[in-house]
Formats: sequence, structure tokens, C-alpha cells
Amino acid sequence: TSSHGHGPFIAAIDQGTTSSRCIVFDKDGRIVSVHQKEHEQIFPKPGWVEHNAVEIWTNVQEVVAGALDKAGITSADVKAIGITNQRETTLLWDKKTGEPVHNAIVWQDTRTDALCKELGRNVGQDRFRRETGLPLASYFSGPKVRWLLDNVEGLRERAERGEILFGTMDSWVIWNLTGGTEGGVHVTDVTNASRTMLMNLYTMKWDDKILASMEIPAAVLPEIRSSSEVYGLAKGGILDGIPVASALGDQQAALFGQTCFAEGEAKSTYGTGTFMLMNTGETPVNSYNGLLTTVGYRIGDQKAVYALEGSIAVTGSLVQWMRDQMGLINSAAEIETLALSVEDNGGAYFVPAFSGLFAPYWRSDARGVIAGLTRYVTKAHIARAVLEATAWQTREITDAMTKDSGVELTALKVDGGMTSNNLLMQTLSDFLDAPVVRPMVAETTCLGAAYAAGLAVGFWPDTDALRANWRRAAEWTPRMDAEQREREYKNWLKAVERSMGWLE
Ligand code: G3P
Repeated sequence: TSSHGHGPFIAAIDQGTTSSRCIVFDKDGRIVSVHQKEHEQIFPKPGWVEHNAVEIWTNVQEVVAGALDKAGITSADVKAIGITNQRETTLLWDKKTGEPVHNAIVWQDTRTDALCKELGRNVGQDRFRRETGLPLASYFSGPKVRWLLDNVEGLRERAERGEILFGTMDSWVIWNLTGGTEGGVHVTDVTNASRTMLMNLYTMKWDDKILASMEIPAAVLPEIRSSSEVYGLAKGGILDGIPVASALGDQQAALFGQTCFAEGEAKSTYGTGTFMLMNTGETPVNSYNGLLTTVGYRIGDQKAVYALEGSIAVTGSLVQWMRDQMGLINSAAEIETLALSVEDNGGAYFVPAFSGLFAPYWRSDARGVIAGLTRYVTKAHIARAVLEATAWQTREITDAMTKDSGVELTALKVDGGMTSNNLLMQTLSDFLDAPVVRPMVAETTCLGAAYAAGLAVGFWPDTDALRANWRRAAEWTPRMDAEQREREYKNWLKAVERSMGWLE
């Protein structure tokens, strides 16, 4: 049981791309317990990725029970529940039965590529970017909803009759937590809504014209709320009666957990993909360099805070792919040992454009390539190239951030599972030519959700109290020769060129 004394505590649920987890935090923002469970990745066709939402909801209940159990506490010790989630992943379900009408279509899925091209031709690229801050890409939810309405037999009619609910995973979890078919609340928060491509970034309301152009009936949509407020009480189950008090997309939650509350503060989270977000204050900043404009968070009825985001689709999932699809390593941790067995990449560069290329390119037609191969290259060199891919992709994004914001990067705050890889962190610092800093709690995604929930119920008084909890745990500084860095970067960019244009 807990070594952190007596509660009360905050429980955070992170419904992520590869797993769901629940973490219990104490008042100092320290982890009391963690329980986690992976769910199946379903790949029905090249470029398609699905999840079974029923499996996910079962896992969520299981990890909550597990985390409370490990902490040795009951729901009576839990002041509030915070929710964070993989963003964009799209689900439609039946309001009466609670049954999903189809598997969830995951953010990585590229099936809406042709649909996005068509929308670009008919409605125009700029139109969407102007209102939503997002480029037309298969990444976002709106086109996924449209695909389901067009492809699941009879669904459009049911949706128009008001029998169908749409949600990203925050909505799905909150609806189920608060009673499901027995009166569950159908809500989403501003950060998740800002990834649907259906919300107007300025009014923070669903945009009627965009809904019309995507042919999505408003009846399916959840109500958009702030990221930190009580949406309802959990009903039934182990958390019965506890306020559900926050929702944030996982990357925004990490921004919050890293306490990037001031304009110009940024973080980069290394999970399935990697996402760098920079707080830009109360005005949305347009990007001219391939970044997204998105909502950072909104606390209750305070003004929303916006962010610029650089999104990388494939980082940790490339290591997973090496393990599960290629069988080149037995565990994710082994990638580091294998990479350390050689001095360098042996001339190999790996561009993991499995879901097309996200920032700064936004090319759905890109596909993965390994370039620079000779007979000399071993799997150890490929392991290096895998880690370097994450570091180079980050470099491309920090370059874009610098151009858009005019602020030079002085240090990068990092978090997420991959930050336990020392070689990767050193490589990152080398490629960025800047220090890389990791806080004590690397689980900043859950921490951010816990913070937002705690603020909503008065568990923490204000954001200053949260800042006081941030502590540095590790730092890496650049050791790479500048000339070598530039040479390698050029090679990487050449390899990126080769990944584009596969679907023409
Ligand atoms: O936009 C996708 C992102 O929210 C997924 O994050 O950590 O589940 O890879 P993660």
C-alpha cells in the first residue's frame, strides 16, 4: 500500500493508443499506484488501424480497480477522476444499447485519404485550416465520422434520427463512467473537440458550415465543455458517486502536467507517436511551417489557452513494429542495447511514414522507407536508425516552432515512455543542439489530467501550487560535432524525400 500517507487522492485514467492506465496521485503530485493494460491493435488492411471500444471500456474498468487496489484505497479516498485520452480516434455508438456500430477508427488510420483529397478539391484546404487550425489530413476525426456514416449500412438514417452518438475516447469513457445507457453524460472537452476538424477554434462551438460540408448531422455530437469542471458523477461500478472532473487530449494533458502555463513554454511527449506543444497564450497563432493550431486547455470558465503543435505519427510504435512485426528485438527496451552495440547508423536512415507524414509535411501519400542500405548494414544499425528517426523528426518540428514563434529553443522538456531510453535522449540533445530535460514524474499525461480534475474540485488551489511540484530528474547536453550533425541531417532529409509520392 501507499508510502505517501493518507489521502485524499486523485485518480487519472489515460485511455491511450496502445494501452489504458490508471494512476493514483497524492497532493504533492507523486504517483501512489499505477495499473495498465494493453488492448489489441487491429490492422484490417494496409494503412487501416482500429480498436475494439468494448475491450477498451472493459480495460478501463479493470485498470481503475487495479490502481485503487494497489494503492490500498477505496473510492472514498478519491476526490475526483480525471480523464485523458488518445486524440482523434473516432467512435459512433448506439445511444439506446450502448453498443459501438463499428470498431473505433484510430488516429493513425489513413482510409480517409481520398475523402480528404475530395474535400480539398470541393471545399478548399484553406477553409478548414482557417476555422479549425488543422490541415486536411486523414489524422483528424471529422472525415472518419463521415467515412462511417457512408460505409456502415443504414447508419446515416439512424444518426439523423438522433439514435447515434459520436465521441472521441474521452466522450466514450465519460459516457460509460457516468451511467452509459442509464443517463450517461455525452460531453467532450475543448482540447479533444479541437482535433475533430469540426470545431471552430475561435468560438469553440461546432461549426455548422463545416458540418454541412462534411455531411455530419449535429445530432451525433457531444456537448463541448471546458477541460476542468465536474461533468457528472460516476454511476455504478467501483467509483460510484465520485466526480468526473477533467478531460484533456493526452498531449494537452502532458502540457498541463509539465506545468507549461506560460506563453512560450513547451514540452515533447514520446509515446506511440511524439507530439510537441508550445503554449501560445490566449490567442491562436497561425502556423506557416506545417504545425497545427490547437486548444491547449481551458480551466472552467476562464479563457482558453492555445498551443502550436508539431505532431509525429510514428516513434514508439516503430520500436513496437520492430518487436512485433519484424521480430528483431524481444522487448522495447532491447532496442537501446542493440543500438549501442554499434558506433553509428552504418549509413542507414529509416523514415517511418506508416501513417503518411505528419508535421511539417502533412503528406498522406508518404509511406515508410529505409534508405542508404549496403551489405554492411546489420540489424544493430537499423536499431540506431530507428532511434535516430525519432530524434530527426523532433528536430524538424523544433525548427518549425522556431520559425513560427521566433523563439530559439533553449531547452526541451520531455516526458513519456521512450524517455527512459538514454541513448535516444542523448541523440535528441545532439540533433537539437540543445539540452533535454526530464521531470521527476515522467507520466505527465496522467498527472495533467489529475491536476485539471483536482483544480475543478478544489484539491489544489491554483496553477501556482502545481508548478511547485515540478522537479528536474535528468538532463542531457549536446556532445555532437556541428559539421557531423548537419551532414547527417541532410542525409535524413534526402531519405524523407524518398518516402513521398507512394500513392500517386
Ligand atoms: O493525436 C494522437 C495522440 O493523442 C496519441 O498519443 O500517446 O496515445 O500515442 P499516444
